[in-house]
Amino acid sequence: MKFTFLLVQCIVMFFCSFILEAQKIDEKKKMGVFVATLMKKMTLEEKLGQLNLVTPIARTGPFATKNASDKMKDGSAGNVFGLHGSPASIHTRLLYPENSRLKIPLLSGLDIVHGFQTIFPIPLGLSCSWDLPLIEKTARIAAVEASAVGYNWTFSPMVDISRDPRWGRVMEGSGEDPYLGSLIAAAMVKGYQGSDLNNETSLMACVKHFALYGAAEAGRDYNTSDMSRITMFQNYLPPYKAAIDAGAGSVMVSFNDVEGVPATANKWLLTDLLRKKWGFNGFVVTDYNAIAELINHGVAEDYKQAAALSLNAGVDMDMVSESMIASLKQSLAEGKVSISEIDNACRRVLEAKYKLGLFTNPYRNYDPDRAVKVTLTDESKMVAKEAALKSAVLLENKKGILPLKEDAKIALIGPLANDKREMFSSWTIKGDTPSVVTIYEGIKKINPNVVYAEGTQISSDSLFNVKKGLEFNVARQKELVKEALETARNSDVIVAVLGESSIMSGEAKSFADISIPSCQRELLKALKATGKPVVLLLINGRPLTIEDDLPYVDAVLDMWRPGTEAGSAAADLIFGKYNPSGRLTMTFPRSVGQIPIYYNSKSTGRPYIQGVEGYFSNYLDQLNTPLYPFGYGLSYSSFEYSAITLSSTEVKGSNATIKATITITNNGSFAGEETAQLYLNDPVASIARPVRELKAFQKVFLQPKESKQVTFTLTSEDLKFFNSSLQWDWESGKFIIYVGSNSQTSNHAEFIWRK
Ligand code: BGC
Repeated sequence: MKFTFLLVQCIVMFFCSFILEAQKIDEKKKMGVFVATLMKKMTLEEKLGQLNLVTPIARTGPFATKNASDKMKDGSAGNVFGLHGSPASIHTRLLYPENSRLKIPLLSGLDIVHGFQTIFPIPLGLSCSWDLPLIEKTARIAAVEASAVGYNWTFSPMVDISRDPRWGRVMEGSGEDPYLGSLIAAAMVKGYQGSDLNNETSLMACVKHFALYGAAEAGRDYNTSDMSRITMFQNYLPPYKAAIDAGAGSVMVSFNDVEGVPATANKWLLTDLLRKKWGFNGFVVTDYNAIAELINHGVAEDYKQAAALSLNAGVDMDMVSESMIASLKQSLAEGKVSISEIDNACRRVLEAKYKLGLFTNPYRNYDPDRAVKVTLTDESKMVAKEAALKSAVLLENKKGILPLKEDAKIALIGPLANDKREMFSSWTIKGDTPSVVTIYEGIKKINPNVVYAEGTQISSDSLFNVKKGLEFNVARQKELVKEALETARNSDVIVAVLGESSIMSGEAKSFADISIPSCQRELLKALKATGKPVVLLLINGRPLTIEDDLPYVDAVLDMWRPGTEAGSAAADLIFGKYNPSGRLTMTFPRSVGQIPIYYNSKSTGRPYIQGVEGYFSNYLDQLNTPLYPFGYGLSYSSFEYSAITLSSTEVKGSNATIKATITITNNGSFAGEETAQLYLNDPVASIARPVRELKAFQKVFLQPKESKQVTFTLTSEDLKFFNSSLQWDWESGKFIIYVGSNSQTSNHAEFIWRK
């Protein structure tokens, strides 16, 4: 009976998938016919217009597009990004193509990176939740809100792996690990694009920056990145691939060069790898003005050559430089590019518009009534709060100073404690500032007696201040510190909210010194000297070097840039209504000298053993270990791991599996969530392999004193790596797995797996 039922179920599923597949093929055919028919009507100029992406406002680049509106009207700009203003004014501009001959609708893009009006924690923070459904939900909410006012394309997810916190853009990504980064990339694409792009609430995703942008040398933005193909394939490319496999409709090219050829002109990258090997069939857009910058890279003499190089490499759309529209006609006449390349690029852009349903209803997304209903809803705020709670990482908690008693006399100090906009980041153009709950407001709601003092200015670094047009006033600083100390004196505990302001991380925000700005650190010392316990709430867009600050604090809770619900989350965390569960996705170095520092490094021929001096791979003036490793994060509880039990210690063949089981016990008095992490090491292989690599994780919620068993199933896929021939394969031998609460756990087991 059971068997017959299963059989029927299988047959039904087979036919359903068959029908779905047939529908897809049918839809693809329809799209092909539609686009081909349209292209037959198009002049060369109109085709080139589809390759042109303009912006009326220069936010991140050197200049905006001149006369963007006219170009949108006459069809010489088929795409726009960065439309601002009221929904009505956005709509008016979306209607511009109505004036053009073929009335082809516009792609309307924006950098919607961690929320639209409801702002979630920065992606680096979100990644510390290790919570994929939650991350997907944040992207979905962003899409629902943004689509209602007319956007149909987001320049997200940013999936650049980075091992260098000097690089200001680490805040936009998911940290240093390719496995977790890939899962997050896919979750975000699903969130933005929903189940169907042709749905009024979907945005087309644009995975960026392809490729290796996060490996900018010395952490200096836009700098060159150089690495072996093995490192590239093993550690940097997987998240882009995962986003593409998840269906991302577009790819944005990175500013840097890849093996000497700027990505914008790199045929190997954009055609051989992306299209031919990975099967990407969406469209490729450059980054801001990047075609023109090929001249600075030194691979093109002028715009004309640059545009031809890009098109030939596989670029379909030119962001802002307008080199394509200005020169491809002439390049075609001179035989530097072919019409089939122009046609291919145009076709891909039109296909994106078709997939988004824009030809049926160009403004289908725009619906001011829906916008009001779906924006900043109670539900999205709840998700924003959940995200801020789960992103926070408890880095220190000496003598269990946290959580605080709800009626404690709290002195809340710091310029970031009561500033709504500071809870956002550089990519929160549309974020609704009045809705933000500041940390002061959040704490006050639970503890009305909290007293606040600003305490310090943000930065006393004169070069930074000059560059950013800020001023450091010595007399004012003295006043602020004095006031803070007076406030602190009458308290039981000081909560200092310090770190980076929103202009200190993001694009073009690289720092050579990533410690807390010195004027803030001086304040911290003065606060500690009062003898009161000090809780540091860090607001930051990157791992900071805080080792020297640790003597002056009793607890450190990293909130990243937490978004709309910053204060309500901070209050729940410090009063213990939520037990911190975030785990780092990027290593915290002790000092800048240790950078690049990351957990999945290779061991070298002379690995350093702590305490043994000699000719080993180490610094004479610094430890090798990071301040906080990848995967690290404390809880108000403590979780104990049992030894690992393996279903087998020796298996054979690609289809074999091994189950690794551990029991986790919550030994504390708070219920809480633990993230059990499984790492693998392949100690003998044909190439040197990392000391360990994340292969799986599971989140478990445990009541006080509760124990739960967690089982991981390993397959031969987990053993695979890119070998010297860039083949993704595994090799027979011994393997070691580690299961524990962070990447430095010593809890391990070994097995043999033969081919
Ligand atoms: C950034 C991109 C962004 C684009 C448009 C560039 O400067 O690198 O990430 O999407 O500007 O704002």
